[in-house]
Amino acid sequence: MTASSVQSIRTLDKNGDEITSVGFQRFGFDCEVPLDVVRSLYLRPHYVITASDDETHGVDTREEDDHARFTKGYSAYQSKSIYHPQSQSISYTTLTRFPPVKLLPPSSRKRVLVTGGAGFVGSHLVDRLMLLGHEVTVLDNFFTGSKTSVSHWVGHPNFELVRHDVVEPFMIECDQIYHLACPASPVHYQFNAVKTIKTSFQGTLNMLGLAKRTKARFLLTSTSEVYGDPEVHPQPEDYWGHVNPIGPRACYDEGKRVAETLTYGFHNQDGVDVRVARIFNTYGPRMNPQDGRVVSNFIVQALRGQDLTVYGDGSQTRSFQYIHDLVDGLIALMNSSDTRPVNLGNGDEFTILEFAQLVRDIVEDVQRADGVAAPRRVNIVHEGLPKDDPQKRRPDTSRAKSSLDWQPRWTVRMGLEEMVRYYKAKMAEGSL
Ligand SMILES: NC(=O)c1ccc[n+]([C@@H]2O[C@H](COP(=O)([O-])OP(=O)(O)OC[C@H]3O[C@@H](n4cnc5c(N)ncnc54)[C@H](O)[C@@H]3O)[C@@H](O)[C@H]2O)c1
Repeated sequence: MTASSVQSIRTLDKNGDEITSVGFQRFGFDCEVPLDVVRSLYLRPHYVITASDDETHGVDTREEDDHARFTKGYSAYQSKSIYHPQSQSISYTTLTRFPPVKLLPPSSRKRVLVTGGAGFVGSHLVDRLMLLGHEVTVLDNFFTGSKTSVSHWVGHPNFELVRHDVVEPFMIECDQIYHLACPASPVHYQFNAVKTIKTSFQGTLNMLGLAKRTKARFLLTSTSEVYGDPEVHPQPEDYWGHVNPIGPRACYDEGKRVAETLTYGFHNQDGVDVRVARIFNTYGPRMNPQDGRVVSNFIVQALRGQDLTVYGDGSQTRSFQYIHDLVDGLIALMNSSDTRPVNLGNGDEFTILEFAQLVRDIVEDVQRADGVAAPRRVNIVHEGLPKDDPQKRRPDTSRAKSSLDWQPRWTVRMGLEEMVRYYKAKMAEGSL
């Protein structure tokens, strides 16, 4: 079966309309990219061929067909990972072609620095900025990020990857800085609390200094954690928050709060052109399945046929934003004129228990569609609540709507379906 003969999968937005592209046309520029091209990049590292016994013939193309349903023939831009089950090894074939990127006139082409660009959010932002025709430099110390998440751009004339820790000064000529470098999951940011707060403070100070020197526009990826365990629902940007300054999450929450303070210090004192995005819970492919965040936990447990672990009774609520909506929001904010903090998140609220049930249903649907029956229906089991776990978190995104004309388009179900397929492919690859 060839890629073109495989039936493609339709992705529908909240209104039931088909999503064929990501991005938008606003603020005087076109930042739309076909969804299939973007997909071909994040499904690429898991585009698996399982080598047969003699390692040359009888290649199993099921996974290839699976992905072709998403990427609609963009496989020419994908490298291949060949899994050898006999020797438990994997061989990689590097790209010989890059996907076409826009040819921008020099006046529109920006030199963009993305700190933390090898992480989950950063790598998707980099894909988008590259496809839009910008010159992108990724700065990352690979603490939680991985070279493989951006390796498909290595060698491209518009791309540069630098291993560097943002707590050390860094000099480069640039027009825009997206400052993402900071571990985002509790397991990772609590691993070394002092380093986390140092990254937030010293790293942000260094990048703001760079923005001041180069007159670059600076965007900080802050977080909904600045609201702590909020007493106001949903949380608007002018809510000051309810944060425990000495709790286990303080290194991250207070780190981001001081990063915001620094950002506005440079803005007010030195006229640095700043943007602050307060990001709410985001999920999508390339999330590290080992980092303990609820979405990846549930999906991986369900795919492995293990029971899903819910902390507490599961009545605490969360909202979940899909990565493409967030990247749209970040690019819109960077190119808008709004210097105030802006919430970016999806307001659809789920209890954790409802969410676990939804993940279980979607994993079962995907397994059925692919003709693989689950051996048994997994159960939902309960464990004790971690300390300072917020009971409720939901964004008020009216500012993003009025100022950026931005609203989430992806339903949680569509995003989850894509993510289940991504992890399923990773498992087939043998890397999960
Ligand atoms: N994912 C979410 O739901 C979410 C929510 C709110 C805010 N954010 C923010 O978005 C940003 C990206 O989050 P993510 O989910 O992609 O996390 P991530 O851990 O996947 O990515 C963070 C990246 O920063 C790099 N990094 C960490 N410390 C560094 C340092 N000292 N120097 C250089 N690089 C460093 C890591 O190696 C990694 O590549 C973070 O600033 C995070 O606080 C994310």
